[in-house]
Amino acid sequence: MSKDFYKDLIVYQIWPRSFCDSNGDGIGDIGGIISKLDYIKDLGADAIWLSPVYPSPNHDYGYDIADYMDISPDYGTLDDFKTLLFEAHRRGIKIIMDLVINHTSNEHKWFIESKKSEDNPYHDYYFWRKGKSDKKPPNNWKSTFAGPGWTYDEHLDKWYLHLFAVEQPDLNMDNPKVRKEVKDIMRFWLDMGVDGFREDVITFISKKEGLPDGFPIPVACGIEHYKKGPHLHEYLAEFKDDVLAHYDCFTVGEAPMMTPEYAIELTAEGKDQRLNMMFHFEHMQADCFITDFLQRPFSLKKYKSSMSKWQKALYGKAWNTLYLENHDHPRIISRYGDDKKYRVESGKMLAVSYLCQGGTPFIYQGQEIGMTNIRLPEIEMYEDVATKNVYKMARGFGLSDKMIMSLAKKASRDNARTPVQWNDSKNAGFTAAEKPWFHINPNYTEINVESDLENPNSILNFYKKLIKLRRENPVFTYGNFKEHMENSKDFYVYERNLDGKKLFVICSFSNKAVRFKAPKGINLEYENLILANYNSRKTSDNEFTAKPYEARVYLFG
Ligand code: GLC
Ligand code: CA
Repeated sequence: MSKDFYKDLIVYQIWPRSFCDSNGDGIGDIGGIISKLDYIKDLGADAIWLSPVYPSPNHDYGYDIADYMDISPDYGTLDDFKTLLFEAHRRGIKIIMDLVINHTSNEHKWFIESKKSEDNPYHDYYFWRKGKSDKKPPNNWKSTFAGPGWTYDEHLDKWYLHLFAVEQPDLNMDNPKVRKEVKDIMRFWLDMGVDGFREDVITFISKKEGLPDGFPIPVACGIEHYKKGPHLHEYLAEFKDDVLAHYDCFTVGEAPMMTPEYAIELTAEGKDQRLNMMFHFEHMQADCFITDFLQRPFSLKKYKSSMSKWQKALYGKAWNTLYLENHDHPRIISRYGDDKKYRVESGKMLAVSYLCQGGTPFIYQGQEIGMTNIRLPEIEMYEDVATKNVYKMARGFGLSDKMIMSLAKKASRDNARTPVQWNDSKNAGFTAAEKPWFHINPNYTEINVESDLENPNSILNFYKKLIKLRRENPVFTYGNFKEHMENSKDFYVYERNLDGKKLFVICSFSNKAVRFKAPKGINLEYENLILANYNSRKTSDNEFTAKPYEARVYLFG
């Protein structure tokens, strides 16, 4: 694999509203981020993906942008942002912005103009269509957040398309003026010094001509007509050639329903590369079908096969992303690990399971201290529009409140959006306000950054060690990938090789003690054990009883 600066980065994702509040209004802000840059640096990260900080009415917490070239007063000012950029760069930390261009907020001036009249110059910035004769929407598309994909506007007697919330009208990327706006937005931030973009649902930006009906499913109906639209390549190439290629920056695209083949098509190195790497969702479905709400028991087989598939398929062709958490999914320990008895052990094991693989790692705020799901019991306590919409839809289908709440407690994105737990003082040290903007997980008295910093055996200190090892040994980042014991129901075992160095990784996903036997041809020596989540004594390493959620990393050569 060729070396590129973005391949060696460790990216820390910040969801600003819940990160750290510096002015005591209960809302996380840029000042709070600046105050924690040393913490992020100390963790070993050297890049930050900042979830949206633009002005927004917050129907989808920042993913509904009302002005792409400013900072929300909730978070500070443009000058504060410039200070953040300066302070981050001074510490060798890059910053990428969240670029949400599939849709805007319905309070964006373009949308407000577009609905004034059909001859308004902004009218064609969006998908305005006449309904069917019987007062039905133009087609049967449904929102990804559940509910209809179209909303009617009386004044125009037309409908507008929104693949997400009602307040997130889709931009018409087929209009060259819209693409010019996008390029201006990119240049605005890149000229200021930003290091790139995470591009929100970027594969949805081109819709099939004529907007035909989709295969009838209750959520995201129509997706086959925009998950890989006819002009996607063309538009991404335009953004790259006209803007991105002229800056020292990198991009990571977010793409629901992404496959390795499709990712390679978009990110293979060479002149046709559209984006540097993609986020896919497949490995996040080892305990659900397609959405976090359609739950099933965690399947190690599914996790392993997805992780390994992407490692193998992209090797030597395109660059992987590695993540287990972000603002859209519940906390990983509560899903694939054990957030009670073995929280610490399983948290460390999960870190090993993905941070020893090839690609650029992403770590989501709070993941590094093993934050867990909050499991809010009543729908009124939730803030997330997707959770609220699913609730409404499921009630409509006749499901009981109790039933839906038991799903939401596990599946809601709000589980990942509770404020970061900095210490055991009031409000977890997140804010000096009487009341934070959102519920704080009551387990903050035990789980918090301060106590993890002090404890040499904490999850946080384990992440630090692992990141340091990754930085010191290129085999972590660039090695090839070979899985062992594929059929094991307890272990995820793999090796990586580069220039005569071999990394050998063992992760037990069992909450019981299980016997491990090294595969043929592998000789594990205690001397080569560079990281483990238990204090393993010097025993035979080729055969041992692995403790619950035990993880071991060996390095040879
Ligand atoms: C992406 C974001 C998510 C948002 C959605 C619509 O999936 O990560 O938070 O709700 O796009 O913008
Ligand atoms: Ca604040």
